[in-house]
Amino acid sequence: MAETIQAVRGMNDLLPSETYIWQHVEKVFQSMLQNYGYQEIRFPIVEKTELFKRSIGEVTDIVEKEMYTFLDRNGDSLTLRPEGTACCVRAVMEHGLSHNQTPRLWYAGPYFRHERPQKGRYRQFYQIAAEAFNLPGPDIDAELIVMSAQILEKLGLLPYVTLQINSLGTPNSRAAYRSELVAYLTKHQHLLDEDSLRRLDKNPLRILDTKNPAMKELVANAPKLIEHLDEESAQHFNKMQQYLTQAGVKFVVNPFLVRGLDYYTKTVFEWVTDHLGAQGTVGAGGRYDGLMEQLGGKPTPALGFAFGLERIILLMQETQQAIPVKTPRLYIINDGQDAYGYALALSTRLRKEIPGLALTLHCGGGSLKSQFKKADKSDARYAIIIGEEELKNRVISLKHLREEVPQKMLNEEELLSFLKE
Ligand code: HAM
Repeated sequence: MAETIQAVRGMNDLLPSETYIWQHVEKVFQSMLQNYGYQEIRFPIVEKTELFKRSIGEVTDIVEKEMYTFLDRNGDSLTLRPEGTACCVRAVMEHGLSHNQTPRLWYAGPYFRHERPQKGRYRQFYQIAAEAFNLPGPDIDAELIVMSAQILEKLGLLPYVTLQINSLGTPNSRAAYRSELVAYLTKHQHLLDEDSLRRLDKNPLRILDTKNPAMKELVANAPKLIEHLDEESAQHFNKMQQYLTQAGVKFVVNPFLVRGLDYYTKTVFEWVTDHLGAQGTVGAGGRYDGLMEQLGGKPTPALGFAFGLERIILLMQETQQAIPVKTPRLYIINDGQDAYGYALALSTRLRKEIPGLALTLHCGGGSLKSQFKKADKSDARYAIIIGEEELKNRVISLKHLREEVPQKMLNEEELLSFLKE
């Protein structure tokens, strides 16, 4: 026998026993995004490698270690998208969507990062994200965060997450702070690990984000960017906090929140839970006012967020959220070719007249007994039986498969009104 082939490590199949939860979560996101006036945008899964290098930053985990990069047949370097903001900015720029306009966009789909797989961390994972362009804030910053809170509330997750916010200031204020941070870290250079030593020159802020427990104290005593914000960024940050408080959204200011991507300016935030172990960030985002210019476009203020769907769904399962049950299924059993012909016509009518009906028409023949077995094994609640008798008398038998109730004999109209109820 030939050897079987399995899925790539860290890339998951989503089976029917779970996909209905995904559909529910996606629906909640989509309807809320629509409520807030966001419109869907779709872009390719593969982009030029340069796009991610120039946006996410050369000295980040994603670009240094995690991208799925390959040469295509023309010898061009392409990359499976590790995140969507860079793609969205590229598409907005390419189609002039933000030219004298303020588009609010959302997108969903798979992303790829070659990380070490564990619970809540995969090499292919799904995000639902929103981005808003040409709005300098802080009004939109607050609205975007309120929207994310309302989505989490709708999913029943708000009690299990904390909103952390921080401000990274403007590039100018960050440059001044950076020299101070580098001076501090250089003074304590003997305490830095290998990764941090490498980042000291190129990306010292990322050292604050270290997961190394040995460096906790060093980081805790480091100068804080939030105490060195320029006037404009400080005002922006204060106003946003005021709006959030007015909207009743609770938050904590985390001065060490720096995010793993380099394009952020001013507002950054993360929704964090302690119910998922190490991978506790269910969603995150912030402002990236310099990104479009950095990619060769016009200076365009922008901001957004992305939620990781696997983590949202894990958290729903972990906290036992009530997930709407699947629509009850019907299974049509039919005895012989004549019965099948009628059953096909009947099922076509039922599907047309009852939108959302989940109906399986038995195909492949077989005895009534074996068809009943199949109906029983499926998750159907009712079986409809079209046998010789039924065909002759123009009636339909309806049998409850999960409860002991007498079988019903109905005509087509009666069946229709029964199912509509
Ligand atoms: P990010 O923090 O890299 O931000 O990812 C956002 C979310 O995606 C994370 O909070 C997490 O829930 C999920 N996620 C990330 N990596 C994985 C993984 N390996 N496995 C499972 N889930 C994962 C961004 O991607 C930015 N583009 C967000 C943004 C949009 N900022 C502004 N606009």
